[in-house]
Amino acid sequence: CGIVAYVGQQEALPIIIKGLKRLEYRGYDSAGVALLTKDGLGVYKKKGKVSELENHLVEFADLSSKIGIGHTRWATHGEPNDVNAHPHYSASEKFAMIHNGIIENYDVLKKDLLNKGYVFHSETDSEVFIKFIEDIFVNNHCSLEEAVRLALHKIVGAYAIVIVNKEEPDTLIAARKGSPLVIGVGQDEYFLASDATPIIEYTNQVVYLDDYEIAVIRDNQLQIKTIENVETNPYINQLELELEAIEKGGYDHFMLKEINEQPRSIADCMRGRLDAKNGRLVLGGLRDYMNKFQNAKRIIITACGTSWHAGLVAEYLFEEFARIPVEVEYASEFRYRNPVVGPEDFIIAISQSGETADTLAAIELAKSKGATIFGVCNVVGSSIARATHAGSYTHAGPEIGVASTKAFTAQISVLTMMALKLGYQRGTLSESRYMQLLSELETIPSKVERALKLNDKIQVIAEKYKDSRNFLYLGRGYNFPVALEGALKLKEISYIHAEGYPAAEMKHGPIALIDEEMPVVFIATKDSSYEKVVSNIQEVKARKGKIIAVVTEGDDTVKHMADYIIEIPDTEEAFVPLISVIPLQQLSYHIAVMRGCNVDQPRNLAKSVTVE
Ligand code: G6P
Repeated sequence: CGIVAYVGQQEALPIIIKGLKRLEYRGYDSAGVALLTKDGLGVYKKKGKVSELENHLVEFADLSSKIGIGHTRWATHGEPNDVNAHPHYSASEKFAMIHNGIIENYDVLKKDLLNKGYVFHSETDSEVFIKFIEDIFVNNHCSLEEAVRLALHKIVGAYAIVIVNKEEPDTLIAARKGSPLVIGVGQDEYFLASDATPIIEYTNQVVYLDDYEIAVIRDNQLQIKTIENVETNPYINQLELELEAIEKGGYDHFMLKEINEQPRSIADCMRGRLDAKNGRLVLGGLRDYMNKFQNAKRIIITACGTSWHAGLVAEYLFEEFARIPVEVEYASEFRYRNPVVGPEDFIIAISQSGETADTLAAIELAKSKGATIFGVCNVVGSSIARATHAGSYTHAGPEIGVASTKAFTAQISVLTMMALKLGYQRGTLSESRYMQLLSELETIPSKVERALKLNDKIQVIAEKYKDSRNFLYLGRGYNFPVALEGALKLKEISYIHAEGYPAAEMKHGPIALIDEEMPVVFIATKDSSYEKVVSNIQEVKARKGKIIAVVTEGDDTVKHMADYIIEIPDTEEAFVPLISVIPLQQLSYHIAVMRGCNVDQPRNLAKSVTVE
C-alpha cells in the first residue's frame, strides 16, 4: 500500500496524485483521496489504478485544497472495491484517515463499537481504527491528537496512518508502528509518504518517523512525540536519491530498465569496497562486528521471496569460503517456530525494501535472544536498516518493478564480498586464492554486460514458449537458487506456472510432468556438477521435454542436446549466479510482455509486503 499526504501553500491534489502514481509500484488495487475544499471534507475513491481515480475526480468541479491525504490500497481485509478503498471517514465525517498495515484486534474493537451503535460501510480494519479514535475523542472531550495517542495504546498490529480533520484545516496527524512513514520537509510545506519516491522532486530533507511516534503538523510546524507523550526532536536526513533514478529513462518498463542497469548497479555496490589490485575489500558496516562474525558458531540468514533466494546463494558462499554452518530461513517460518537461536549466532537479514513485516519480526525475535543482526538492505533509512545492529547497503538504486532483478544481484554481490572477507579473516581462504577471487569479482559487471547482449536470442525463445502452461527450472549447486529465482520471476509476471528444483531431485517427482509440451530450463554452466547436470538433460530429452540450456560460452556438449542454448561468459563457480540469472530475468520479461501482462505491476503482488 502507499500513502501520500500534503499540507502547504500549493494545490494538494496534483501532488498527491503524482505521488500515488510513483507509489503504484508497491502494489495496489484501489486508490482514494480526502481533500478539505470549500465544501468541506470530501473523500473520493475508486477501485483500480490511480488513473481511474483521476478520471473519477474529473466529475467534480472544484477540488482545490492546500491540504489532503491519498492512498493506494493492497487488500488485506475485504475485497478491492470503491467502499473498501481509503480514506475512511469517521462516523461524524469530521475526520478522514488513510492507513497502511493490519490491525489485529479489530474484531474486538468493532464489536464494541457496534454495540455502541456505530455503523460500518466497509469491511476494513481501517474503518474500525478511525471510528475507534473518534469514539475516544467524543468520550474524553479531548483533542484529536490526544485521542489518537490514547487509541494507539489499545491498537494491536501494524500501522502507518495520516488523519485530516475538517475543523483544523492546517493540520495533519500521522503515526507509525511497523509500517514505514517518511516526512518531507519543504519550504512552508510538508509531504508525508510511505517511502521517499513521491517526495524527492520537492525536497531532499526528510524525517523518518519511528515506531510509536506521532507527528503533528500544524501551522507549518512539525512536532513529534511518542505515544507516551514525550516530545522528541525531529532528525532531518538529507536524501541522496536522484529523480532520474525513479523514472523509466526511455525503457518500456521499469523491469527492463532495472535488468539492464545491472552492470552499473553491481559496480555501484562494489565501488569503494573492492579494490582487487591492492587486495583490498572493505565493508564499512562489518568493521565493528567482524569479531562476532568471525567467531560465530552459525550464520542464520532470514528473508522472504527473491531475497531468500539470495540467501540460499550465500549459504553456498559462506560454507565454501568461510566454513561456518549456515541456515537459510523464510522469515515467516523462523519467527513463529520458537527457533533455537542465541548470542553465538550471527543473523543476516536480507531485504530490498527494508520494510518486509515478517523479516522485521524475525529480526526482533533474534535480537531478543541476544543474536547479532546484520542487515543487507537496498532502501537507505528503511525500518530493517534501522532495526539491525549493523549492515551493508546494496546501493542498487530504487527498484520500482515489483519483480526484483537488480536488487537480487546487488544482494548477492554484498554477500559474496562478505563471504570472501570472512574466509580470508578466518584463514579458510588462502591469500593467493583470495586475491584471485577478488580480481575475478571485479570483472563481473563487464560479464553481466556481455550476458545482457543475448537479449535478441532470448526474445526468440520467449516467442516459441510463451504459450506454455508450465515451466521447469533445474540447476545444481550455486545454480540451484538461480533455478528457483528463474521460476519465481516467470510466475510472478507472466502467470505461467513454474517450478524450480535442484536438478537431481527431478527424478523424485517433477520428471512425471515431462512430456513434449514441457519446456525445461537447465542452468548447466561448466562447474563441478556440470557432468551430472548433463545427465539430467539427457533424462529430460529421453522423455521428449523441450530443453533451454544456459551454458558457459564455447560449450560443445549441451548444444547437441538442447533445443536452445544461451551462452554466458565463464567465471568462478561461486560467482556464476550473478551472470546466469540475467537471461532468466530477460526470458520472463519477454514472455510476460508477449502475453500482454502488466510487467511492472503484476496482479495481486506488492513490492513491499508490510503485512504479515
Ligand atoms: C515481495 C516482492 C518480492 C520480494 C519480497 C521480499 O514479495 O514482490 O519481489 O522479493 O517481497 O521483499 P524484500 O523487500 O524484503 O526484499
